[in-house]
Amino acid sequence: MKLLQVDLKDRSYPIYIGPDLLQNADLLTGHIRASQVLVVTNETIAPLYLETIKNSLHGFQVETVILPDGEQYKTLAYVEKIFDQLLRAKFSRNATLVALGGGVIGDMGGFAAACYQRGIDFIQIPTTLLAQVDSSVGGKTGVNHPLGKNMIGAFYQPKCVIAATDVLKTLDDRQLSAGLAEVIKYGLIRDLPFFEWLEQNISALISRDDEAMAYAIERSCQNKAEVVAEDEFEAGVRATLNLGHTFGHAIETGMGYGHYLHGEAVAIGTCFAADLSRRLGWLNDADVDRILNLFRAAKLPVDPPEMMTTEQYLDLMAVDKKNVDGKIRLILLEALGKATLPINIETSILKETLDSYAGK
Ligand code: NAD
Ligand code: GLY
Repeated sequence: MKLLQVDLKDRSYPIYIGPDLLQNADLLTGHIRASQVLVVTNETIAPLYLETIKNSLHGFQVETVILPDGEQYKTLAYVEKIFDQLLRAKFSRNATLVALGGGVIGDMGGFAAACYQRGIDFIQIPTTLLAQVDSSVGGKTGVNHPLGKNMIGAFYQPKCVIAATDVLKTLDDRQLSAGLAEVIKYGLIRDLPFFEWLEQNISALISRDDEAMAYAIERSCQNKAEVVAEDEFEAGVRATLNLGHTFGHAIETGMGYGHYLHGEAVAIGTCFAADLSRRLGWLNDADVDRILNLFRAAKLPVDPPEMMTTEQYLDLMAVDKKNVDGKIRLILLEALGKATLPINIETSILKETLDSYAGK
């Protein structure tokens, strides 16, 4: 087992990474301070892993909420179902919420934990690659609104993250690739040697080589933990984790939640950001080709949806948490392995990128 730490003073917490961690009851119960535990999961994950978690929680008062599966259910209405269950079971403020699932369940469970009685403990047990390398670490929680992705939420850190690598064996190939988009992101924004390692090892990852996968998860979590420790509330460098996300979120919202996987939309969005960075003279054609080739090798899309127009992108990108005074700000690449902080971009240059991509 690998052990990393997210360093946030009195709210610091461990990330455990390794096989068979769901069976390790002490790991989980060691982070639970009272008897009431609510496990939040979904209807796909419950038949696979809920029983194992319940076995680890023998002797606790365990309640469960099993939500429908999908990004389209990441809404306030479904978070309310978690509150209903917490209240029905008369859970107190010293209760713990365990989020067992991918990023959707982690974001919703964390948000419910942040709100219930103004905050109860919560534990992340991420079961997708994307959740293990990104969403379970760092305390961003929340839900979508029909007018904007992740626009309702809270920063709320978990007590620990338990990333059991063996659960990825039941994840389908498309979801695995979606997770790789966020893995590649770390290389692009701040870790050129990792980007180069990914170029060499992408086929091992696609074929689920255990050693390569464990290394990619650990290195990604290390990168994320460092960024979060430096800038928990996204006053600066944390925004670089949003490379490709402004375009990506526009695609997710514009196409309807659930059409593209989050990681797929991020991959396409990163290609937009790379194109814009090339237009600004920061990347050359060869750099952009390396990015596109790595996404392609990870079996991720690089071409945008045909039906979205430049005007639609601009409209949707105007609703983004990085914007200031209603102005679109973007994370771009100054070089491979070096992201910019959020910057205002001349609308004319942004339009050049959008025009050359939109409706392609
Ligand atoms: P997801 O949670 O929808 O999971 C993807 C699919 O895999 C679902 O159908 C799920 O039921 C299934 N699944 C999960 N684990 C499985 C397993 N082990 N075996 C078989 N099937 C399994 O999607 P995701 O990609 O994990 O997360 C995407 C979400 O995360 C988005 O809502 C995105 O906004 C959010 N996100 C949040 C952060 C953050 O910092 N909080 C960062 C990145 C993404
Ligand atoms: N996934 C972006 C962040 O955690 O800041």
